[in-house]
Amino acid sequence: MTTITKTIPKDGDHIAVGGLIHFDTLPHGIIGTTENCQFSISLYASSIFRIRISRKDTFDQNPYAVVVSPTDDLFELQETSDKLILSTDTIDLHVSKYPVRFSFYTKDGQLINQDDPAFGTSWQGTEVSTYKSLQAGERFIGLGEKTGNLDRAGKAYTNWNTDFFAYGVDADPLYLSIPFYIGIHSGLSYGIFFDNTHKSIFNFGASNRRFSYFSAEDGDMDYYFIHEAEVKDIISAYTYLTGKIELPPKWALGYQQCRYSYYPDSEVLNVARTFRDKDLPADVIYLDIHHMEGYKVFTFDEQRFPNPKKLTEKLAEMGFKVAVIVDPGVKVQNGYAPYEEGKAKDLFVKYPDGEDYEAEVWPGWCNLPDFTKAETRDWWSEWMKFYTDRGIRGFWNDMNEPASWGQHTPNLIEFDFDGQKTSHRKARNIYGQNMVKSTVEGAKKHLNERPLMLTRSGYAGIQRYTAVWTGDNVASDEHMLAGIRLLNSMGLSGIPFTGYDVGGFCGHASPSLFARWMSIATFSPFFRGHSMINSPDSEPWAFGEEVEEISRNYLKLRYKLIPYIYSTLYESSQNGLPVVRSLAITDTHDAKVYDPAYQNQYLFGHGILVAPVESTKEITKVYLPKGEWYYLFNDQAYKGSQEAYVDCPISHLPVFVKGSSIIPIQSDVKHLDEKPSETLELHLYQGSQTNEFVLYEDDGTSYDFKKGAFHKRTLRYDSANSQLVFKPSLGDMDTHFKEVKLYLHGFDLDSVRVNDIRVNVQKVNYAFIQQISQFDPLPENTNLHHEIKGLPCITFKLVDEQITIKF
Ligand code: NOJ
Repeated sequence: MTTITKTIPKDGDHIAVGGLIHFDTLPHGIIGTTENCQFSISLYASSIFRIRISRKDTFDQNPYAVVVSPTDDLFELQETSDKLILSTDTIDLHVSKYPVRFSFYTKDGQLINQDDPAFGTSWQGTEVSTYKSLQAGERFIGLGEKTGNLDRAGKAYTNWNTDFFAYGVDADPLYLSIPFYIGIHSGLSYGIFFDNTHKSIFNFGASNRRFSYFSAEDGDMDYYFIHEAEVKDIISAYTYLTGKIELPPKWALGYQQCRYSYYPDSEVLNVARTFRDKDLPADVIYLDIHHMEGYKVFTFDEQRFPNPKKLTEKLAEMGFKVAVIVDPGVKVQNGYAPYEEGKAKDLFVKYPDGEDYEAEVWPGWCNLPDFTKAETRDWWSEWMKFYTDRGIRGFWNDMNEPASWGQHTPNLIEFDFDGQKTSHRKARNIYGQNMVKSTVEGAKKHLNERPLMLTRSGYAGIQRYTAVWTGDNVASDEHMLAGIRLLNSMGLSGIPFTGYDVGGFCGHASPSLFARWMSIATFSPFFRGHSMINSPDSEPWAFGEEVEEISRNYLKLRYKLIPYIYSTLYESSQNGLPVVRSLAITDTHDAKVYDPAYQNQYLFGHGILVAPVESTKEITKVYLPKGEWYYLFNDQAYKGSQEAYVDCPISHLPVFVKGSSIIPIQSDVKHLDEKPSETLELHLYQGSQTNEFVLYEDDGTSYDFKKGAFHKRTLRYDSANSQLVFKPSLGDMDTHFKEVKLYLHGFDLDSVRVNDIRVNVQKVNYAFIQQISQFDPLPENTNLHHEIKGLPCITFKLVDEQITIKF
């Protein structure tokens, strides 16, 4: 191959790729040189091209995000005097030769995405950028945990993992970096994942109207271009690259109670007992930093928590799991085993002169374990036994940006980067992710069952290991809605298990804000209440009886929905689709879904549309995209593609179900280790589409599902043939359910045929939530209550052969 003459540009120089000098064809792509750099194009699927451009002799290795290798024999190459064309079944990539620029086309010749003709990929000093011509009406969605509107056009964002207490609703950057976005224009969509861990910028047409660009302070241009007809398939392709969630324990979908901090142990027990006394379902209670001796990781304070094992046992008897905070900083203190071991084994981040770097965090001056070093990860994983031996089942990595007082980590500190020693500039954004990897791998090994894992920081691929929460939010309506957009955006970016601090971490929620937040969070994948030190009590009973009743209603609804939510998360583990689905996934080219008035709306799983609304509103406008819709609480039917006014008193969040949806529900339980009744409620909503839902069950805690111990059943609603089919099950496990109670929403019928036998339907009254007490004596303030009257319903035995119900 031609050797490149390296000219290191002076600051301010603009160096572009230049013309093609030479290229070679490989089974999975091509590799070549230009006047100023080397480049390669590799195919990962017929819809995924990787473009690498480097000014160095060898390409950078980015070992942390992508879990698959390129695939051979996916393309054909044509060469003309001025271009190369690499064609797959899905995309034609035109590479102009003089200068080298990349343009992606559909098979019928529509332009999807194109380099800016003048700038393409180029450098300013060490900063590398790729400029893409803005297309007419182009929208940009995703980019992970980013504030702002659903459509990011006209804005720019920075990726640099940052601890940001009480961040503003427009603040940037926050804790986690996912350099992946989806572009949409002219009825087309594509994804770009820029795999470079340096501080990066994504500009979607801010301060210019010529191009969008993505750039990094240093390192190679290394991006994956994805084109699929639908956004859902772009997300699947992105998670094909970066991995999919592994199922967490089922109890991780229950309600979780946190505060900074519950102590001593008697208070923890008290909080847990109050949930049970008040008939409020819950599964997890957290120990924040006050459980430790002097905030030191891998310790318990002997006064406050003299016998953690006994505490976790007592809580287990009540059906509670315990999660602990696990921060990275290891206090510099002689006699403290983690410090002495880490130092002796040379596991901490260092200055270039070899001295261990010290940062100040909760315990005081600390060393930072170098989680980019395999030995450190292994060592830390072993230390996790400290917690698992004491019965802890949940692990919460906080402060892993890494955070430190002063917020300015010196860039010269050095990280192993798995054998490719590098500085903080390249390692920061991947630090938290490697901490999570080591924490969760240790927990799995020592528990020998699925742990709950939660993180604040991460990078592309974080979904493989953990749930993510949105850090130190604020108790305000604005923040509640901003949090929903953060979850929508993370869902678009491959992270399905996400949540926010319900009630707001900073400040104190009003009763109605807390009630509204609880109702919305019922429809979030990770559901946890949390509030900060020195704030008033913020448990669901701390805001008065009315809020307690509303909270109970929604908590119970959440627990009923577990078969639906668990099956949806299972789907995420298979195809990468999120649980919280921005309407941009299903109705990508409908301008209304980007309207700031409707951009917070999302589908929870395939069929439940949530229209979040401020706590101060009693009536609101929602947008129902194409299709048929039913208001959850009373079955009122709506035609799609319309805006509608709905009442939203604090007791009733606007929630709709899409026609053709299949929603499985279980009986009330107090926590998720408790077995529900053996009757599965199945709610079918009449609609004009054919729809399939995979109902998934397993033991909820072990890894036996990987060896086939699960029960999986496809339910298919075929609207054209007016039938619902239960296909025979897959997997080695029996279902927990013995019979099905099928509720037929939107159907007007007196009988159905179950496997050709005529069965009369019962007409029942049905309520998804209970009427709350009459708190206000004024008659005009009678509490709203909805009941679905005369809902057709049949009950039948759940056998493992095909069951066909004809309407
Ligand atoms: C910062 C976290 O974001 C917050 O949730 C936690 O309570 C505090 N650290 C104390 O650990």
